[in-house]
Amino acid sequence: MDKKLTVKVPAHVAIIMDGNGRWAKKRGLPRTMGHRKGVESVREAVRAAGDVGISYLTLFAFSSENWTRPESEVNDLMGLLKAFIRRDLAELHGDNVRIRIIGARDNLRGDILPLLLEAEETTRNNTGLTLVIAFNYGSRDEIARAARKLALKVQSGVIRAEDIDAVALDRELDTFGIPDPDLLIRTSGEERLSNFLLWQSAYTELLFVPEFWPDFSRDTFYAALASYAGRERRFGNVSDIAAVSG
Ligand code: IPE
Ligand code: IPE
Ligand code: MG
Repeated sequence: MDKKLTVKVPAHVAIIMDGNGRWAKKRGLPRTMGHRKGVESVREAVRAAGDVGISYLTLFAFSSENWTRPESEVNDLMGLLKAFIRRDLAELHGDNVRIRIIGARDNLRGDILPLLLEAEETTRNNTGLTLVIAFNYGSRDEIARAARKLALKVQSGVIRAEDIDAVALDRELDTFGIPDPDLLIRTSGEERLSNFLLWQSAYTELLFVPEFWPDFSRDTFYAALASYAGRERRFGNVSDIAAVSG
């Protein structure tokens, strides 16, 4: 591996895995085949992230808006998530991967929630890569739920309204304890966030790549990391050069 890459590996990479449907369409296949192939890219991305020493990998698997898709596609996606956890949990656990799920849990089907809880519970003490699965996730919903939790705390006298600041709100998000993403990659050429990590990506480096998610490979991933390594992050401050030259 290139040296520059190893010295500046992002701690947290988030990925909007997009383009499964178009990948299938291009081949005259049903959309579900794209989702199936996409699961292989998930496995590849998890291994690639672990190998290069990334601490957190967040994958957008199903958005709160994806429920509006045709019922058959929603069912396929639910089936694939269940199959993924059933088939891959033991191996992920063996690889010391810790799983965290973000997203709303209250409207989940009865056969999904126990699996998600099992994945988190089984791997909770693992110390390797943290794999964050954004499932039934929407940023606006997450922020609204956090605001509601703060309001309840004010109502019951645990905190005062004037105690609410960005740190207090951040603590109520599903991502509590997870550092903000350093790099966010979206595949398929679309250049939008689609309600993903809006709060957390305030200073995240964004990268849009043309490959459809089923074509996402270790090489695509490492090329993205190399692009990240060449960027200068300023967080509202001045660059090093400007600081030195005054
Ligand atoms: C991403 O691929 C997978 C999910 C959103 C669950 P899409 O299904 O959005 O594929 P396109 O964007 O229609 O090609
Ligand atoms: C974002 O992709 C959601 C996931 C990747 C799970 P979409 O395909 O749902 O986003 P839009 O509709 O193109 O914005
Ligand atoms: Mg899409």
